[in-house]
Amino acid sequence: MNTYKIAVINGDGIGHEIVPAGMELVMAAAEKHNFKLETQSFPFGAGYYKKEGKFMPDNGLEILKEFDAIFFGAVGLPDVDDRLPFKDYTNKVRTAFKQYVNYRPVKLWPGIKSPLRNKTEEDIDFIIIRENNEGEFVQNGTQLYPDSPEGMATDTSIFTRKGTERVAHYAFQLAQKRNKQLTNVTKSNTLIYTLAYWDRVIEEVAQQYPDVAYRKMYIDAASANFVLHPEYFDVVLTTNMLGDILSDLGGAIMGSLGLGGSGNINPEKEYPSMFEPIHGSAPDIAGQGIANPIGQFWSAAQMLEHLGEKTAADDIVQAIGKVTAQGIVTVDLGGNASTSDVTKAVLAALKATT
Ligand code: NAI
Ligand code: MG
Repeated sequence: MNTYKIAVINGDGIGHEIVPAGMELVMAAAEKHNFKLETQSFPFGAGYYKKEGKFMPDNGLEILKEFDAIFFGAVGLPDVDDRLPFKDYTNKVRTAFKQYVNYRPVKLWPGIKSPLRNKTEEDIDFIIIRENNEGEFVQNGTQLYPDSPEGMATDTSIFTRKGTERVAHYAFQLAQKRNKQLTNVTKSNTLIYTLAYWDRVIEEVAQQYPDVAYRKMYIDAASANFVLHPEYFDVVLTTNMLGDILSDLGGAIMGSLGLGGSGNINPEKEYPSMFEPIHGSAPDIAGQGIANPIGQFWSAAQMLEHLGEKTAADDIVQAIGKVTAQGIVTVDLGGNASTSDVTKAVLAALKATT
């Protein structure tokens, strides 16, 4: 029997509600599909920071490195400096473990009405591949004399050939398994150094995949097309910041941010990959039992697929779809089910099928 070691990190806010719900589902899938999970929970995040003065212990990365995957909620609390969660937890893990692919699927689940009134399940079905280790989010900058009239600040993006090539190869290979279309979302008409280089490297990689139709689209036009023509997209390859923004728009056209699941993937499996919903810790609704757990569940399915348990992953996706089709949904989707109602329904759907 295959056994996988999973580090479980609720993080903050609604993470304490949706991560345990997600783990229940993962455990049920393991029992049904005959594999074993050894799990260990870690209290890392902004809550931990309030007690310990850091987001994780100094040897946090060494601890996490021993696991096959990390199942994560989100970090951040209103009373903690919001420059820290990304720097001291999320980006730290993504970078240290070379999780250079951020895999963010967008699709219309059965029974859910997209805010795009004429679009169907056939129209909204694509995957955003966000470069996850470099670009605009490398946090390479400075503030000088911030309190004075001469105050100034810089952030310098970094785009490397290697960093762009590896994520591009992943995206083209993914497109080969889907509808063989790849859209590079860029802004090289204004960022004429970094993003022009990004385009150039991607276009070189594109030559190696003649079976994939390649197209370049600027982020401003792509934003409009996400809303007006989501059917244009199959695989979207984009940069760290543009992908961050576009994936919330992807969540919105699915019907709610709470539906988006994601994987921070190290394709070589040299390090653990980390699976988390696309949204944050939602402190405005935390503790009320109303958070939508589906983005976390979808992340769980992605984790199992990454670990090699594709049948179990597909089973979770099917179970989610059965529940959305029945209209058992949380308030963000116009329903009145609680987090626990949705969880029970998905668990029941998973157990009901053979
Ligand atoms: P957010 O994504 O937490 O929330 C935005 C809006 O969407 C809120 O109204 C929230 O209630 C709603 N929402 C999000 N997830 C939901 C769900 N599962 N069910 C129902 N409604 C949901 O973004 P916000 O408010 O900008 O950030 C809150 C905190 O989260 C901040 O501290 C931020 O830094 C952190 N954050 C952490 C991330 C991570 O750990 N990867 C990612 C994004 C934000
Ligand atoms: Mg985001």
